[in-house]
Amino acid sequence: MSNNLGNSNVLNIGGVPCDLLAKACGTPLYIYDEQRIIDKFEEYKNYFKSDIFNTEIIYASKAFSCKAMLQLVHQNDCSVDVVSGGELYLAKESGIPMEKVFFHGNNKTYDELAMALLYGCKTIIVDNLMECEMILDLTKRLDKGLHVLIRVNPDVSANTHKYIITGNSDSKFGVLIHNEDTIIKMINMLKSNGLIKFDGFHSHIGSQIFDLTVYETVIERLMGLIKKLEKQHNINIGCLNLGGGFGVCYTDEDNPKSIEEICSTLITKCESEIIKNDLKIEKIMIEPGRSVVAEAGCTLYSIGFKKNTENKSYLFVDGGMTDNMRVALYGAKYDCDLANKIGQQKINKYTIAGKCCESGDILIEDTMLPIAESKDLLVVYGTGAYGYAMANNYNKMRKPAVVFVKEGKARIVIRRESYEDLMSSEINEEVVL
Ligand code: LLP
Repeated sequence: MSNNLGNSNVLNIGGVPCDLLAKACGTPLYIYDEQRIIDKFEEYKNYFKSDIFNTEIIYASKAFSCKAMLQLVHQNDCSVDVVSGGELYLAKESGIPMEKVFFHGNNKTYDELAMALLYGCKTIIVDNLMECEMILDLTKRLDKGLHVLIRVNPDVSANTHKYIITGNSDSKFGVLIHNEDTIIKMINMLKSNGLIKFDGFHSHIGSQIFDLTVYETVIERLMGLIKKLEKQHNINIGCLNLGGGFGVCYTDEDNPKSIEEICSTLITKCESEIIKNDLKIEKIMIEPGRSVVAEAGCTLYSIGFKKNTENKSYLFVDGGMTDNMRVALYGAKYDCDLANKIGQQKINKYTIAGKCCESGDILIEDTMLPIAESKDLLVVYGTGAYGYAMANNYNKMRKPAVVFVKEGKARIVIRRESYEDLMSSEINEEVVL
């Protein structure tokens, strides 16, 4: 294997050959092509626009977050959605202005809500009646104001993995659209408090969705609700947040719509519904996560041992379900290559397994690759969303390093965990009762 920059057999990402990255940073390694992330933000900003309402792109930080990522979001004029005190803290530490932070979650704690108010987080997406009551109490206690959106479950089922559907009638998220009395009660409660500005509704029906007609149905239903509230109850709705969920390409089997097509479908439908129903909506927002980072990220592993069983030819890599649990959790599919044998004929069928003590620790089943040897580099494509974000320390595996590459340069944005890190929160302290 040559370290020559000109070696065409070595996969090059953002102008940096993968073998050099492996040598400098070790493996497993998450590699993000920074320009591809920037391009996605550009696309969303270019295409999610309308002449009749304002728009806002909010990056769903759960897909992948760290300071470098959130700073990239901010540099590209997008806002950030957070779902926990931890994500909120990271947004603050990353220097994101708090008026650009949207706080989600179906069970935010009192402490998390207080933290959001004290930080000056501008908008909270309220999930349920009990949260509404808690917020009324907290704003008064802390004498702090905020904007609120109510999460509405539009009862629209998206055709995706059952673990990532959120818009069906039994979902744990939001207030069901048919419970109009509860929605009106929540709005009236919020409006009765001078510190709170009720802005409108939020909805998110799931993730990795390819069929755009479900979004059109969501828009119709929410606009219908808004019309009813405006005309029958004199309640004005200024904002509508349509959530994220736009599908990406993991393998040849996936056929996602382009960002241009997604945006144009949503914008056209919103415009026609607003005009048809004569609504006063001022702003429409979306919250893409996966579609911003999935394809910009990949994971680089080193191959260790090989093993042939009765029906399988295994390649074992130095990571697995601890750095990418999507395969074990959702049966997710990925494509891969030998990053140091690009262009060589793929003549062998392999199954890629990780090093965890779990039979389910398989990354890719039956994939064609060139003849693989120990120390070859295996790249798994499209792991940029919900990969590192869901990484864990099972078997006391250390979380990998994350590197951003751009224009021939690389910078480590998250270092590989050390063995000491694994025990850094262990203590032996008597509990004062
Ligand atoms: N907004 C809300 C309120 C959400 O709950 C989510 C994702 C998003 C936006 C962004 O959705 P995206 O554009 O990334 O699809 N761990 C799963 C995905 C869980 C998605 C959770 N919510 C996976 O790896 O497939």
